[in-house]
Amino acid sequence: MKTRITAVILTASLLTVGAALAQPRGALIASCAACHGEDGIAREADVPHLAGQNEAYMLNQMANFRNGSRRHPEMRFMARELGDRDIKDIIAYYAALPAR
Ligand code: HEC
Repeated sequence: MKTRITAVILTASLLTVGAALAQPRGALIASCAACHGEDGIAREADVPHLAGQNEAYMLNQMANFRNGSRRHPEMRFMARELGDRDIKDIIAYYAALPAR
């Protein structure tokens, strides 16, 4: 009986972790945060801030990086690596952050 309850509790907490991981944020944002910051404020002088930037503008830039009309090796790689859905989620996240 005791083992059974423990198992139920364990399953419940695993489900919670699963739900958290299912959110686009975490892992996806981490791949951008290295340069643009988790808060959308870049740490390097040559990297633009994304916090509070216009959403449509950023989506356009991602498309431009992907098709090569805006040239930048790292951003081209990032834009090609991710699917449209992921890019939309990430851009929505950055657009919603407070600008500095
Ligand atoms: C290796 C560092 C690096 C990583 C990782 C990176 N970026 Fe960038 N990003 C840059 C740099 C540098 C620029 C400026 C490019 C230029 O000078 O044209 C940029 C530009 C951008 C722009 C255009 C901003 C503007 O104001 O025009 C967007 C949008 C953007 N990045 C989104 C992302 C997203 C989303 C991710 C994650 C999927 C990401 N970046 C990952 C370095 C990075």
